Amino acid sequence: MGAASCIAVWLASIQTERTAGSVGERYAVLIASTYGEGDPPDAVQPFYNQLCMEHFPRFKSLSFAVLALGDSNYEHFCKFGRDLDEKLAALGGFRLCERVDCDVDLDASFAQWKVALHRSIVEITAAPSTTCKPEEVTGVVASSSVQTPSKRTAAHTRDNPFLAPIVDKRPLTRDVSTKLTLHLALSIAGSEVSYESGDACGVIPQNDLRLVEEILHKLKFSPDISVQIPKSGTVSMQVALLDHLQITRLTRKMVSAYATMGRCQHLMDLLTLEQQQNLDAYVWDRGLIDLLYEYPEVVRDPADLVAMLPKLTPRLYSISSSPAAHYGEIHTTVAVVRYRSHNRERGGVCSTMFADRSHADSHLPIYIQPNKKFRLPQDGARPIIMIGPGTGVAPFRGFLHEHRALGATGKNWLFFGERSAASDYLYREELESMRKDNFLTRLDLAFSRDQGHKVYVQDKMLENAPTVWSWLQDGANLYVCGDASRMAKDVDATLHTIVEQQGGMNTDAAQEYVDALKDQHRYHRDVY
Ligand SMILES: Cc1cc2nc3c(=O)[nH]c(=O)nc-3n(C[C@H](O)[C@H](O)[C@H](O)COP(=O)(O)OP(=O)(O)OC[C@H]3O[C@@H](n4cnc5c(N)ncnc54)[C@H](O)[C@@H]3O)c2cc1C
Ligand SMILES: Cc1cc2nc3c(=O)[nH]c(=O)nc-3n(C[C@H](O)[C@H](O)[C@H](O)COP(=O)(O)O)c2cc1C
Repeated sequence: MGAASCIAVWLASIQTERTAGSVGERYAVLIASTYGEGDPPDAVQPFYNQLCMEHFPRFKSLSFAVLALGDSNYEHFCKFGRDLDEKLAALGGFRLCERVDCDVDLDASFAQWKVALHRSIVEITAAPSTTCKPEEVTGVVASSSVQTPSKRTAAHTRDNPFLAPIVDKRPLTRDVSTKLTLHLALSIAGSEVSYESGDACGVIPQNDLRLVEEILHKLKFSPDISVQIPKSGTVSMQVALLDHLQITRLTRKMVSAYATMGRCQHLMDLLTLEQQQNLDAYVWDRGLIDLLYEYPEVVRDPADLVAMLPKLTPRLYSISSSPAAHYGEIHTTVAVVRYRSHNRERGGVCSTMFADRSHADSHLPIYIQPNKKFRLPQDGARPIIMIGPGTGVAPFRGFLHEHRALGATGKNWLFFGERSAASDYLYREELESMRKDNFLTRLDLAFSRDQGHKVYVQDKMLENAPTVWSWLQDGANLYVCGDASRMAKDVDATLHTIVEQQGGMNTDAAQEYVDALKDQHRYHRDVY
């Protein structure tokens, strides 16, 4: 999220210069992460929209460099970084160095970009390299006034997680045969771990031992062979597959490495540009084990296997507790991912680790991922509207407990949705009790399958459009959490509709109103 604010201010400064019509010598170093489905981070969207306007003036002397952050598990890898780089060049900007696209394991690509940028800066300033070292380029990127340094120093990070014991684990859904959502409470008592409502909890997952054993068996590898894992050193093959490497999902890179190693013609064909859709379909619901069965006897050297597999990455969970109300604990609300494909029962690595491979005494490696963009208003009297269907309710349970523990006087409104009230009404007793004593001013529920036609949270917003509008006019903050692919888009479109209808605005004016909400830090989204 830090990158997002960094880029926003750089673009703002470019924009200001253009509007003032006084472009001087300017340099912009941009670190651009991609969110949603190949989209800019929320905070950057208004600036990017401006850059993309038809008559945005050309730069006369902008020199820039873009580092794109992404994750190759996503279909649109580093798309926003690529788009931004192209847009700035198309507007007349001069590249200080070529853009580099970084995957989750970004050390090597970041170092490559840093060196290229450093070289370019040295050339431009004609400064001897001893006065401007690559390390200082990091400073350029991170030191800009846009970054608010954290007051807390994280004692536990993804590289040094805290082992938190599970103190509570229970289902929140009733018909767990069709859908299981868990409430998990982890103890952080006596530790240096601290968080604020709105933060996420990072969890370092572990793969399923049964799957690891099947892979080892299929490859005829001994579990004890030693292999080298970058940054972690020498570990046994079994530990590498359990703790360090992603085995349950395929990526284009993995398929490509495997195809080359085994000269698998069918896989090679899939990797051609014309077959992109077939490749997407192939990787969508397969993992390493499928490659091993479909194209056996390809990997003979354990080091080749390690080289072709991406790193197993931490998973994030919005924290559903409040430090003020749940002292010494972190709560999370986890939907367990299970599906069947190609004659095999499969599961998400981390969510099934919670469900199937951890118990009351298990210790989970965790760290806090602060989310400064997703905070309760400082003024406790300001009303808040929270839209959180499914596990999107998690941070709002935290917000509500926090507000109550701190005696905040502002009105609270929650929109919650799921499939059915009988089986999927998460935190039902707590929410209804908060509603009953009027602490929760409004609770609007959308159970999509409880009537003949589907009802979603955005339908409930529209039904209550005049009241949503009046809360917004009274200064309410609006929060959205949960599914990024559909829900957040539909809710955003509904917000625009409400502003148009209730505020009597045309599409452009409604867009400006929503942009202003974002600029005033009153429209927050935590979507995944
Ligand atoms: C900021 C943030 C906050 C989050 N908060 C929460 C939260 O509060 N609660 C929560 O539950 N999750 C939350 N998530 C999501 C969470 O981090 C994990 O992504 C999620 O739990 C799945 O992880 P996993 O390891 O179980 O599954 P993975 O091993 O990552 O597997 C998931 C993948 O499996 C594949 N897949 C899933 N279903 C199917 C299917 N039917 N067919 C084929 N393939 C399929 C897809 O490729 C999918 O990406 C959050 C994510 C972010 C980024
Ligand atoms: C909800 C969500 C959606 C994402 N979508 C994409 C995507 O479409 N393409 C991509 O390359 N990376 C995607 N990513 C990965 C991020 O770009 C990546 O984690 C990046 O390192 C985030 O950097 P930041 O934390 O500095 O913003 C997504 C991440 C999240 C949490």
